[in-house]
Amino acid sequence: MTRPLTIGLLLVLSTCSTALADGPARRPLGENDAKAGKALYMRECSACHGERGNGKGPAAEFTDPRPRDFTKRLFKIRSTESGKPPLTSDLLKTVELGIPGSAMPSFSFLSEDDRKLIVAYVLKLADLLDEPEPEAIPDPGDGPAPTAALIARGKEIYGKMGCKACHGDSGRGDGPAAPNLQDDEERPIKVRDFTGGIYRGGSAPKDLYKRFVTGMDGSPMPSFGGLVAGEDRWALVHFVNSLKTTPVTTPLPADAIAAGHAVMTKYSCRSCHVLDDGKGGEVGPDFRVVSRKLDLGWVRKFLKDPRAAGKIYPWRVWRMPNLGLKDDEVEAIAKYFAAISKREDKPLTLPDASKFAADRVTAGMNLYVLRCAECHTLSKVIECPPIKQQGPDLINVAHRIDFDWAKSWILDPKKIDPKSRMTVPGIKPDEVESVAMFVWKTSLGAK
Ligand code: HEC
Ligand code: HEC
Ligand code: HEC
Ligand code: HEC
Repeated sequence: MTRPLTIGLLLVLSTCSTALADGPARRPLGENDAKAGKALYMRECSACHGERGNGKGPAAEFTDPRPRDFTKRLFKIRSTESGKPPLTSDLLKTVELGIPGSAMPSFSFLSEDDRKLIVAYVLKLADLLDEPEPEAIPDPGDGPAPTAALIARGKEIYGKMGCKACHGDSGRGDGPAAPNLQDDEERPIKVRDFTGGIYRGGSAPKDLYKRFVTGMDGSPMPSFGGLVAGEDRWALVHFVNSLKTTPVTTPLPADAIAAGHAVMTKYSCRSCHVLDDGKGGEVGPDFRVVSRKLDLGWVRKFLKDPRAAGKIYPWRVWRMPNLGLKDDEVEAIAKYFAAISKREDKPLTLPDASKFAADRVTAGMNLYVLRCAECHTLSKVIECPPIKQQGPDLINVAHRIDFDWAKSWILDPKKIDPKSRMTVPGIKPDEVESVAMFVWKTSLGAK
C-alpha cells in the first residue's frame, strides 16, 4: 500500500524540480557582482552615465548623442524583442566593443571579469538585476551570402517597408521624415547614414539583422520583426550593406589645430576635457593648461597607453580610457598641444642638477616637508599617505613637466588654472626656486 504513495510523492517532487530548472532563467550575474562592480563603474562609466546611472554625468553635456539613462530601461542594442530588456550578453558586448559613432569608447582594455562586474552594476542601476534573463529572438545564424538577386529583393523591401522615409533613397539618412525625428528624451536624433558603414551595434550582417528586427528602443528606429520574415530579412541586410561606399580615408588637415580638432571630434575628447576654445567637460584636466605644462614626449607615450602611467591625479574619481589612438592621431594631438601653447615640438630642456647649490637643495627639502608633503607624495623619499594625496606623485616630474613652467605654477597655481586645488599661500619666489631644485634633483636622481 505504501508503494504507490512513494511513487506519487517522487513524481510530485521530480515535477517540482523540473519546473524549477525550466522556470525563468536567472541573470548569470548577481548582487555580489554588482557590489564589486560599483567602484569600477564609478571610475570608468560615471563621468558620462552619472553616479546613479541617469545619464547625467559631468561629461554628458558635451556628448551627442547623450549617454544612456539606465533608469529608463530602454536599450538600443538588443537580441530581444522590442520593449524587452537586453540580454546580459548584449550588455557585455556593448561594453567590450563600445558604441561606434558615439562618445562611448570600447572597454576592451579592461579585463573580461571587470567588465562583467560593471555590467552587473549597470543591471542593478536599471533595476534589471533581479529580473529573469529575457528571452532572445531565435538565433538567425549567419544567413545566406549576398547575391545580386538578394540585394535587388532587399531594395524592393526597403522601398515597400518605408525605410526610405527616414533613411532616404540612397541610404544617406536624408529621407523626408529625417529632419524632425526625436529620441525618447525629445532630443533631435540623426537617422543612420548607411553609406558610412558605421553602426552603433556592430556592422556584421547578424548585427544589422538584429537592429531592424528588434528595433532600437528609445529611438524612432522601429522594429520590423513582425513585417519582414524569412530570407527577406537577409535580403534587407545585404541591400543596406551594399549602400556602403568604399571608405575614403580622409587625410588629417595640414593645419595643426584643425588636425587636432579632427582627432578630438572622432574620440569625443571634449566630453571630458576643456579644449583651446575654453569649452568642454571637466572630467580630465584643461587642455589649455596641459598643453603648456607637459613634455610632448610624455604626452605621446601617455596617449598610446594611458593606463601604464597609473592614476595621475589622486583627487579625480575618473581615469582616462584607452581610446586606441593610431600613431598619426597621437602625433596630431602632440602637434596640436604645441600649436595652442605656442611651443616648439621638442623635448624639455632639463636643468643641470649638479649645479644646484647644496644649501638651496637642503632648504628646499625642509620647505617641501612643511608645504608640499601634505598633498604630494615623492614616492618613498618623502611619503604622503594615499588617502591624503591630492596632487600627483612628484617622483617622475622632471620628465613630465617643464621646469620653468613648474616654478610659475608653484608660485601661484590659481593664476594658471583658477580651478586648481593646489594652494601654497605666501610662498616667496626664492623659496619656490629652492623647493623646485630639491624636487627636480630628487626626480632626476630617481632610477
Ligand atoms: C565618454 C562617455 C561615455 C563613457 C565613459 C561610457 N559611456 Fe556608455 N554610452 C555613452 C553614450 C553617448 C551612449 C549612447 C549612444 C547612443 O545612444 O547611440 C552610451 C550608451 C551606453 C549603453 C546603452 C546601450 C544600448 O543598448 O542602448 C550602455 C549599456 C552603456 N553605455 C554602458 C556603459 C558602461 C558600462 C560604461 C563604463 C564601462 C560606459 N558606458 C561608459 C557614453 C559613454
Ligand atoms: C521612422 C524613421 C525610421 C524608419 C522608418 C526606419 N529607420 Fe532605421 N533608423 C532610424 C533612426 C533614427 C536610426 C538611428 C537610431 C540611433 O542612432 O539610435 C536608425 C538606425 C538604423 C540602423 C542602424 C543600426 C546601428 O547599429 O547603428 C539600421 C541598420 C536601420 N536603421 C535599418 C532600417 C531598415 C532596414 C528600415 C526599414 C525596414 C528602417 N531602418 C526604417 C529611423 C528609421
Ligand atoms: C571619459 C573621459 C575622457 C575622455 C573621453 C578623454 N579623456 Fe583624457 N583624461 C581623462 C581623465 C579623467 C584624465 C586624468 C587621468 C588621471 O588622473 O589618471 C585624463 C588625462 C589626459 C591627459 C594627461 C593630462 C595630464 O595632465 O597628465 C591627456 C594628455 C589627455 N587626457 C588627452 C586626451 C585626449 C587627446 C583625448 C581624446 C583623444 C582624451 N584625453 C579623452 C578623461 C578623458
Ligand atoms: C593643498 C594641496 C597641495 C599642496 C599643499 C601642494 N600641491 Fe602641488 N598640486 C596639488 C594638486 C591637486 C595638483 C594637480 C593640479 C590640480 O588638480 O589642481 C598639484 C600639482 C602640482 C605640480 C604639477 C605636477 C604634475 O605632475 O602635474 C607640481 C610640480 C606641484 N604641484 C608642486 C608642488 C610643490 C613644490 C608644493 C609645495 C611648495 C605643492 N605642490 C603643494 C595640490 C597641492
